[in-house]
Amino acid sequence: MLNESEVKKLLNSVTYPDFKKDIVAFGFIKKIEIKEDKAVVLLEIPSANPEVASKIKTDAAEVLHQNGIKSEIIINQPKQPEIKSNSKSGKNIAPNIKNFVMISSGKGGVGKSTTTVNLALALVEQGKKVGILDADIYGPNIPRMLGVADEKPEVSGSKLKPLKVYGLEMMSMGVLMSEGQSLIWRGAMIMKAIEQLLGDILWSDLDVLFIDMPPGTGDAQLTLAQSVPITCGVCVTTPQIVALDDAKRSLDMFEKLHITVAGIVENMSGFICPDCNTEYDIFGQKTGAQIAKRYNTSVLAEIPIEPKIREGGDNGKPVIIFHSDTISAKRYKEAALALWQKIDGLSGDNSTIQPVSSKAACGAN
Ligand SMILES: Nc1ncnc2c1ncn2[C@@H]1O[C@H](COP(=O)(O)OP(=O)(O)OP(=O)(O)O)[C@@H](O)[C@H]1O
Ligand SMILES: [Mg+2]
Repeated sequence: MLNESEVKKLLNSVTYPDFKKDIVAFGFIKKIEIKEDKAVVLLEIPSANPEVASKIKTDAAEVLHQNGIKSEIIINQPKQPEIKSNSKSGKNIAPNIKNFVMISSGKGGVGKSTTTVNLALALVEQGKKVGILDADIYGPNIPRMLGVADEKPEVSGSKLKPLKVYGLEMMSMGVLMSEGQSLIWRGAMIMKAIEQLLGDILWSDLDVLFIDMPPGTGDAQLTLAQSVPITCGVCVTTPQIVALDDAKRSLDMFEKLHITVAGIVENMSGFICPDCNTEYDIFGQKTGAQIAKRYNTSVLAEIPIEPKIREGGDNGKPVIIFHSDTISAKRYKEAALALWQKIDGLSGDNSTIQPVSSKAACGAN
């Protein structure tokens, strides 16, 4: 007699297209119902790409069919994102990097660097070749968050090799300056520094380089947008109503720079009590969803305040690796997957997703 667990076990062998992990492990199976001799499987996937849905459907039906099981596979997926035709306008001074993702926010301390580290490592776990460029020339702290604050890069000819840590490559002004040293940056210097971090570093062939920006919307953002073709931007914000204005500034900046917004990460959204694991709402939640709607984009993740995230940042032991069972780690992984699907759709390799409008994805005019 056919039962749900048998069907689920068989679906373990269906991997998510382009990833190593299977659809069961990702948690995409929402329901399995046995109707007479037929298994009805309901799946929810984060990708809007019809090819992804079609591949999963075929693979799942095939594996069940091979085991003598009739099936009906139903897949729920989000609507395709609007794609800006001109988002890849910059020249490329680092041509061996396929995609550039700019992580930005209107104000400081909202969790850009934490988001960058955890999203990047989630994609490493999925087998992608990933780098992080810490472009926060004012307060670079990615090296500390990755536990390599005291390491120096190797020199190779007139270039530098990026540091390798937890399976990704990283370069930061923090690696190049001694601790406590600070510089006063002016426009032309910012441009030079950022161009060197991209062009004078021996990055490997990367699927994606995450660029952790300094807070705000200034010269560094402009320089980057002119130096490399940014595939998309991610806006990090906190849920307080007052933070909305800052988030809008960041989204308006993406618009001005013609950068498509892949989504919003609402950070410090609720609090996970370390004793009882209950999630409490402190600042109010879902303001990210409001602004996402207004700018015609989506929320990639709502990440709660979780003490392990802060500890992981301070100790160089990112939560996604060292506490992979936490709610935050799970949400980072889902967000990374949703982000990858957007990158995939935007990067031009995917012929099934056509630009539907030249209007900005974030909808601001
Ligand atoms: N969800 C969270 N739960 C707990 N602590 C967090 C969370 N997100 C970030 N933090 C902590 O908050 C502090 C600020 O985060 P982070 O440095 O990532 O922000 P940022 O936006 O990059 O700041 P800056 O603008 O200064 O670059 C860090 O100590 C970090 O560990
Ligand atoms: Mg930062």
